[in-house]
This record gives sequence, C-alpha cells and structure tokens, in this order.
Amino acid sequence: MQLFLNRKFKLAFYIACVGLFGACNSSLKNEALDFDRKADFNDKWSFYLNDSIRDNDTISETTEWRTLNLPHDWSIEKLFDENSPTGHGGGYLSGGLGWYKKEFSIDESGKNKLISIVFDGVYSNSQVWINGHYLGKRPNGYIWFEYNLTPFLNYGKTKNVILVKVDNSKQPNSRWYSGSGIYRNVWLKTTAKLHVDTWGTYITTPKVSKDSAVVKIETAVQNSDRQEKTAMLRTRIFDANTMVKTVKEAFAIGAGQNQKITQNILLDAPKLWSDAHPHLYRAYTEIFVDGELIDQYKTNFGVRSFKFDLDKGFMLNGKQTKIKGVCMHHDLGPLGAAINTRAIERQLEILKEMGVNGIRTSHNPPAPELLDLCDEMGFIVMDEAFDMWERSKTKFDYGNVWEEWHKKDLEAQILRDRNHPSIFMWSIGNEIPEQWNERGAEIGRELSKIVKTLDTTRLVTAGMNPPIHIKNKEVTLQFEDTAAEPNALAGSGALDIIGYNYAHQTYAQHQKNFPNTPFIATETTSTLQTRGHYDFPSDTTKIWPVRWDKVFTEGNPDNTVSAFDQVRAPWGSLHETAWKIIKKHDYLSGMYIWTGFDYIGEPTPYTWPSRSSYFGIVDLAGFPKDVYYMYQSEWTDKTVLHLFPHWNWKEGQTVDIWAYYNHADEVELFLNEKSLGTKRKEADDLHVMWRVPFEAGTLKAISRKNGAVVMEKEIKTAGKAAQLKLHADRNTIKANGKDLSFITVNIQDNKGIFVPKANNKISFQLGGDGKIVGVASGDPTNHESFKGTKHSALNGKCLVIVQAGDKASTVTLTATSPGLKEATINIQLN
Ligand code: GAL
Repeated sequence: MQLFLNRKFKLAFYIACVGLFGACNSSLKNEALDFDRKADFNDKWSFYLNDSIRDNDTISETTEWRTLNLPHDWSIEKLFDENSPTGHGGGYLSGGLGWYKKEFSIDESGKNKLISIVFDGVYSNSQVWINGHYLGKRPNGYIWFEYNLTPFLNYGKTKNVILVKVDNSKQPNSRWYSGSGIYRNVWLKTTAKLHVDTWGTYITTPKVSKDSAVVKIETAVQNSDRQEKTAMLRTRIFDANTMVKTVKEAFAIGAGQNQKITQNILLDAPKLWSDAHPHLYRAYTEIFVDGELIDQYKTNFGVRSFKFDLDKGFMLNGKQTKIKGVCMHHDLGPLGAAINTRAIERQLEILKEMGVNGIRTSHNPPAPELLDLCDEMGFIVMDEAFDMWERSKTKFDYGNVWEEWHKKDLEAQILRDRNHPSIFMWSIGNEIPEQWNERGAEIGRELSKIVKTLDTTRLVTAGMNPPIHIKNKEVTLQFEDTAAEPNALAGSGALDIIGYNYAHQTYAQHQKNFPNTPFIATETTSTLQTRGHYDFPSDTTKIWPVRWDKVFTEGNPDNTVSAFDQVRAPWGSLHETAWKIIKKHDYLSGMYIWTGFDYIGEPTPYTWPSRSSYFGIVDLAGFPKDVYYMYQSEWTDKTVLHLFPHWNWKEGQTVDIWAYYNHADEVELFLNEKSLGTKRKEADDLHVMWRVPFEAGTLKAISRKNGAVVMEKEIKTAGKAAQLKLHADRNTIKANGKDLSFITVNIQDNKGIFVPKANNKISFQLGGDGKIVGVASGDPTNHESFKGTKHSALNGKCLVIVQAGDKASTVTLTATSPGLKEATINIQLN
C-alpha cells in the first residue's frame, strides 16, 4: 500500500483512523517515554589542565587525568596571582587550556534512536570530538550548543569517548571573571528519529483577559528518518498536576523534513503570571506513531500581558509595575562560574527578600536554570546577548569572532529562551563602542531583525550610554545641550525601548528626545561598599575614582570602602539618588542596579590586592550590606527598622548612626537608655541620621506610628571575640550529590554579642557523606582559596558551603579558630 498512496491521501487516511480511535483516548498508549529525552550527563568526566601553553597542547597516553563531575570551573580552583593575564577584570584568577573526556556506552536499543550531546555553556573556545571524529567548535562561552552523535556511536559493549578541548588561554578576554571549563550542565539527548526539534516549541499568549487566554503553540517537528512519516501531535496543558486542555493534530512529514505545526488552545479563567504571583503552566508536546508515544517534550509557560507605556511605564496584566531590578554577573562567589541550581536559587531568594523583582543577565545569555528560577520566583528579566559587537573591549574577546558567530549565537539564545514568561526584554548589547556611529545603528538594526524573526512578543533594547560631549579629549555627559554627540544606536530605530546606563540627569530629557519610545534604566547606581566598614562623616559623597578615565587613583589605604551610601563611581550615583528619581516618575519603567551581588573581578575603585567587586548590595558570600535594608524598607511590605553601624568605637569618637525604616513616622534613638532625639524622614528622605559621641553600651532605636511602637532594634558594644556560632540556611538538604547548605559563621564575644570587626581565621572540618565546596567572607582583598577549608572572617562573618553526597545520612561541620570556642552543626541529607 505504501507505494500507491500519495502523501495527501495517506494523511487523510491517518486522520480518519485517529478520528476513529481519537474519540476514546485508548489508542494513545504510554504516557511516558521509556527513555530519558534529556539525561544528566555530568558525572565522572576526566579532566586535564594544560597550565603552560606549549606548541603541542594535545593530550597523550601519558596524560594524567583527574576525575570530576560537571559543572566545573577550573579557574576558581587557582590562587589569586597579581600577574595573572586575566588582570583585575578577571579577578587575578587565571584561564588556561583544559581537556575533558568521558567514556560511556550506549545500549543496543539506542540503535534506532537519535542521540546528541547538549552543552549549556563552555567557557570558552570549545572543540568537541566523538570517537575521534571532529564535531565542531564554539567560541562563545555563554551559549548552548548541540552535536549529533548518532553517526559515530558504538552500541553495546564497545565504549564511546567524547573529548572536549576548552581554550581560555588567550587573556584578557573579559571585563569580569568568566571562569573556565564546562561550567554549565551537559545533557545526553535521546529521541526517536521523528521528534520535537531542539527548542522546538514556541508558546505565546496573543490574547489575554481575566476570562480567557488564547495560547498559541508552534511546534517544530523534525523527521530525521529516511522515510516519510504520518503521526499525531498532541499537546496537553497542565496546571500543576491537573490537565486543563488537550489538542491533537495529525500530520505527515517527509524524510529529512522539518515542519512547523500550529495549535491554538483557549484557556478559561487563566491564572496569570506576575512578579508577585508567578503562575506557571506546563505544556507536554507529544508525538504518537500508530498510537505509540515516541516523543515527549515539556515546556513551562506563563500567561501574562504587558506593555511599556510612554507615560505610565511598565504595565503587567494591566497593572503599573515598577521594575526594581538588579544586574547580575554569572559567578556564584566562591563556587566560581560552575553553576549549581541551589546556589542560584539562594541568590534569588536573598534578592526577593530585599524586594527585587527584576534581573538583568549582564552581559551575556545566562544559565537556563536561572531563567527557570526567574519564571518560578517572579523576576522581570532583561536577557542580554553581548558586551561587545565587532569592536573589542579586551584584546581577545568575542569581538574577534563577531563576524562569523554573532548571528548563530543570538539565534541560539532567542530560540532557547523565548518561552520563559519572566523575560520581557531582549538586550542586544551593553555599552557597545559602535553606539556612537552609523555602524552601531546598522548592527543594531541587524540584531533587532534577527531577534524579531524568532520573537516579536518582547521588546528589544540595549544598555547604552547617553549622549556625550568630547572637548579637548575630555568626555562629559550631555544633559541638556542638544549640540552634543548623539547616540546613533538610540536613534537608529533598532530599539523598541530606550535603555540608558547611568546618567540619571538625562532622564528628564527622554520624553523630549524620544516622545514615542518608552524608557528603561538598563543600569544605575554603581555605588561602592565593603560590608561592615564605615567611614565618617557619612554625609559627604566621595567619587572614587574622581574621573572615569583615571581609574585606581582614590580610596582608602587598606582597600576598604565605606558601607554608608556615600561612595560612588564617577559615572554612577548613590543608591538613594537613583531610586528617588526612578520612584518619582511614572514614565521611568524601572531600573537595574549595578549590582545585586558582588562578583569576582572589576574591583573598582581599586586594583590588586582587591580581586572582587564593591558594587554589590549583597557581598560575595551572600551577606547583605546595610543598603539592602533601604531597599527592603521601600520595596517590600515587611516592617523594617535597620540601625547601623555597629557599636564598637573609640570613647568620645563622633559616630554617625543611620536608620532605614518604614511603616512608622519617626524613630527615637537611645544610648544607654538616654534619648538622643527623635528623627523623621522629610520630603523624599530614605534614611535618618544622628551624630553621636561614642560611649560603650547599648544603642536602641524605636520606630513609632501615631505614637505606638512599631519596632525596636538594639546594638550592643561587643567584647573580645570568644566563640563561633553556626547557622545553616537549610539544615536538611537532598542527598543527591548536588544540593548545598550555606552555613554562616558569626563571631561572638562571651556574652553572645556579635563582634563587628573580628577577622579571625576559621578552619572547617566535615564528617560524613558531603564535602566543603566553597568558603568566603565577602572581603574583596582576601587571597585565601575559595576552595580551601580555612578562611578569614570579614567583620565578624564567614561562609562555608557544604555539598551533599548521595547517601541519606547526617553530616557534621565543625568550625574552629585559635582562642575561640568551636562550633558544630549537623546537616541532614534526605
Ligand atoms: C558599566 C558596565 C558594567 C560595569 C559597570 C561598573 O558601565 O556596563 O559592566 O563595568 O559599569 O560600574
């Protein structure tokens, strides 16, 4: 019969059959596949680091391999080195050239399947071989890629060997710490020859109301078989575990063909996705042949409508919603670039607690796990593609391969990310050098077009610099003078929303310059702070460095920066300045502060011995700096009264005391029970301050509303450091070899009072089925290894990260330090 039926007739015949059986679902057997479409492929890789780059960098029989599990970042295992070619940008940790190898076998049953390997990201310049066959290269360290292994595989007992060369030896190639190696997850993907293509679903919600939503599902089906196929595509929509809708479509597809099938579903009374209530639906896309399930692909999606309004700013589901965002680099502090889902989740939890509702993935495509978490936790994401285009910012960066790779990389990013409800803007670049000339406008239009061929449901923006004046080689911002050099990219028509970094003084001009284009502050602030360090007086502003082009010229001799909101980079502003403006004007859709967390590299205003940033609202260990509570008082419903600094000073020294508070109209301060007066925030103030001569004892603040006490806070003068206290973010974690417990060490005196300047060195021992995978204190000048078992505290605090083994059991962490009472904590692995 095969021979005599033409394609159309076959499809009609098939539809008739499906129609007959489709009435009762029994023809569609097997609700789950008997193989993993995407299996974790991270275990037991061999690794070899070729530290010295010789002419012959190939591996040989005698190569000594080390066994490890991915994701892995070899740079974070190294020591800080003032002479490292990565320089201050890379945090003085080195790159190099590394090899990864994995042996694996494929069961005979894999013979009629398609098998490929998917890398979520390898930094950088990776090349891959399977059983000696070269599969290809990928210079971009932040993009996913996939190779089809099928033609080269051995089945049954004969092993397969996958070999990956990672070349991050040419430095510098980044303005921040990149990490090196296979630092994101790797997957072994197995599908039937007829299957949903990679990132093959595109789910949009073109019509959304309270009563219903149209869900449009485009599915790209790939038939890699030599024969034409007739099949059925079923999409089932789940709300948690309840199936809410199902739709089926019979189709025929020729050999080697890729076909798009569109299905529309009407969802009744949809639960909308928002930052406050991030409701997710899940689509199961399934292919059946002769009633047998042969492929199943899952896509999370959200139903939401949004608009960037010229006057009202960002509207989410019809509600005005200010984007209170932060920029984040991808490193996870002491874990380096090696991604770990729990570590990302902890960062987001800390930020959510502060009131953050937005993340900018500066300045590259993020790990997919970050986007999944943003979907689940409710963050408004600006997904950024590039930090440079064809003009490089560092000698060996992506600019060198721009021409050949930018289209492929941008397409790969949009294809992968376009179902995430958390993404609202695509940023095609950050502070791109070409932005000032016609070439920037041209590239901008090209990139915007690439994005729009794959997704038109979001806005395209870029983090640009506002117009400038160049006079006698001195560069100044242009605020009102229209004669200044304009930003060509801003005026190019490439962008749906104008995004400027910094220069809040220019915001007022925006509606005049671009009356038809909405605005987002893509990057703000760049205030500098060391957690727990305070300089007086606190009400003078310092600009470090004084000029943006004369870096590393100002600062404290010990490379500290005051944690009062008083020191900023010349291009930036203090935290309060930026937020006051964004808060005041509705047309300003929101802001992405530089940065949520400190990151490794870019230790502005310093250079060596500083190796990590001072920009974070939260330090590198995950401990909030004081300004965190300013945002919490403004951005959350929590009742806040945060009093700082600590209360350990020289007798008689003049000390400034600040309080961030909300839900109250005044705060009264007491020193040793004596009132120092009541203060109120006036006009748009965001804190109150007292100036007090120090006297040891207890400082107490009471906030009141209409005379009734809202909250009380006390800080006591601490004695000498006497004991360690441990506190885990989670005392029970999963016994899955991946989960983490983040354990904080607080140094206390013998009465249990926190010792704010204690910098004792602490040693950690772990007993049981787990390991210590990171130590940090948040001190940007500390040169102890992040991967050691000893670390010096910074201003009373230190962090140790314990990773679970895979046996359900108890692990015990002990912290010791000479002269201090040790502490122990048990972590349960379930
Ligand atoms: C911005 C840049 C960021 C970071 C920041 C530091 O201009 O976009 O990547 O360098 O400055 O203030």
